[in-house]
Amino acid sequence: MKMHALRRILAVVVIAAACSTYLFVSIAVAQEKSSGAMITMPSPKLDGSVSVEKGLAERRSVRAYKPEAVSMEEVSQILWAAQGITEPSKGYRTAPSARGTYVIHVYLVAGNVSGLPAGLYRYEPKGHTLVKLSEGDKKGDLLKAAGQAPIGPAPAALIISGVTDRSAANPNWMYLEAGHASQNVYLQAFTLKLGTVTMAGFKPEAVSRALNLPEKEQPIYIMPFGRK
Ligand SMILES: Cc1cc2nc3c(=O)[nH]c(=O)nc-3n(C[C@H](O)[C@H](O)[C@H](O)COP(=O)(O)O)c2cc1C
Repeated sequence: MKMHALRRILAVVVIAAACSTYLFVSIAVAQEKSSGAMITMPSPKLDGSVSVEKGLAERRSVRAYKPEAVSMEEVSQILWAAQGITEPSKGYRTAPSARGTYVIHVYLVAGNVSGLPAGLYRYEPKGHTLVKLSEGDKKGDLLKAAGQAPIGPAPAALIISGVTDRSAANPNWMYLEAGHASQNVYLQAFTLKLGTVTMAGFKPEAVSRALNLPEKEQPIYIMPFGRK
């Protein structure tokens, strides 16, 4: 083989290697960007003008929402009400937990939240942040899996899931904890003039599959929310 033909082959090999390295790095960067990113939320307000008594007296399940965005401030407040840390030295939260084991996780399915790309996020009480798990509006998938019409038009929904392997001492604890968190969300939504409803009428496996939730978690409640 002549020298110039050899050089040409070598050049093609080098270019191909450079292209595939570039492609590999680009894909890795894109994946990094689309999952695992931490989003800091506005700090929650620790005081308000609506009394607990008014919230208890007037709270109702709301299943119709205006087609308007909810704000990051509202999402932050709702997530804090569900599981926010209120005593950092001990990690205690807004809702009680048997032996402080905290056997629930809260996820946000964001469809129309101003300042937040549509996607699935996990709420991290420590640091009051969101961890992006996947991009794109998952509400359609959630609606199909749960078969509950109010999910469709809601700008966002919470999923409260139980961590099954940490609930070993008593498998009922995760359901009880989910109930406490859910009532907090009802009351907080009321003070924000938002509507919500707690839903348990769905097949947990179907919802888990639709959102690709971890194997050792079981979705207990879905709480769509939005402006009423
Ligand atoms: C364990 C549980 C499961 C529920 N599941 C659903 C549900 O799947 N879909 C729904 O629209 N509402 C559901 N709800 C809401 C109830 O229908 C609602 O709380 C009830 O009608 C009383 O109305 P109120 O919340 O306005 O007081 C559920 C409530 C609880 C406590």
